[in-house]
Amino acid sequence: MNAIEYLKKYGDSNTYEEDLKRLQQGEPVQYIVGNVDFYGCPIIANPNVLIPRFETEGLVEKVIAKVKNRSNLKIVDLGTGSGCIAIALKKQLNCEMDAVDISAPALQVAMENAKINQVDITFYKGDFLEPLHDTYDVIISNPPYIAYEEEIMDIVKKNEPAIALYAEGHGLLCYKKILTDAKSYLKPNGIIAFEIGYQQGEVLKEYARKFFPTKKITIEKDLQEKDRYLFIE
Ligand SMILES: C[S@@+](CC[C@H](N)C(=O)[O-])C[C@H]1O[C@@H](n2cnc3c(N)ncnc32)[C@H](O)[C@@H]1O
Repeated sequence: MNAIEYLKKYGDSNTYEEDLKRLQQGEPVQYIVGNVDFYGCPIIANPNVLIPRFETEGLVEKVIAKVKNRSNLKIVDLGTGSGCIAIALKKQLNCEMDAVDISAPALQVAMENAKINQVDITFYKGDFLEPLHDTYDVIISNPPYIAYEEEIMDIVKKNEPAIALYAEGHGLLCYKKILTDAKSYLKPNGIIAFEIGYQQGEVLKEYARKFFPTKKITIEKDLQEKDRYLFIE
C-alpha cells in the first residue's frame, strides 16, 4: 500500500485534504494518521518516537518462538520508544515486563500506549541498563544503530527523533554499552535479542563473544534476507 492509500484507509476523512498536504510536504503518513498497528497492537506514533518497523515485528516474533515454553519470565526492553516491543511481548507471553528509555517524551508515549493496550509494564527513565536492579530471562533491544556518517532517507532524517536513530562509534556504541553491562542483569539461561543494522552482524558477534564466551551467538535474517537480528542464548 502506498502512503496515499494508507492515508485514505487509516486517516481521518474529515481532515483528508489537510493531511494530504502534510504528506506532500514530506511528513511520514504514520505520524499524520497518528497510530500504527504493531504485531496486532494499536500504537500511537508521533514525532517523539520512532515509527515501529516491520523488521522489529520480526524480532518480537523470533523472541516469542524462543521463550514461549518458559514460565515466570522477566523481560526488559531497552530503548522502548513507543513501547511497541514491550507491549507486543507482554500481550503474547505470560511475563513481567520492564522497559527503559532515556527520552522523557518517548516514555510518555510508551505509557499512553501501555494504557491503550491495557498491559502492565514498569517504565524507567535512564541509560539502558543503568536504572535497573534485577536479572532478566530476556534482554531485548532495538537501539539507535545508524552511523552519523551514513546517508539515510530524507523522510526519516527530517522527521524521526535523532536520539532514536543515531549512535556513535559507526552506529555500534549502544550495543557495546549494553553488552558491557549485560552479564550482571541476565539470568543464567537468559537471552539477549538485538535488532541490528544489516552490516553490523559480524563485528557485533565478535564483540559479544568477549562477554559471553560460552553462549550460542547467532545472526538471523529479516524477511528481505538481510542480517537483522543478533541472539545470544
Ligand atoms: C531505534 S529506537 C527503538 C524504539 C522502539 N523500541 C522500536 O523498536 O520501535 C531507539 C530508542 O532508544 C532510545 N535511546 C537512545 N539512547 C538511549 C539510552 N542511552 N538509554 C536508553 N534509551 C535510549 C531512544 O530514545 C529510542 O526511543
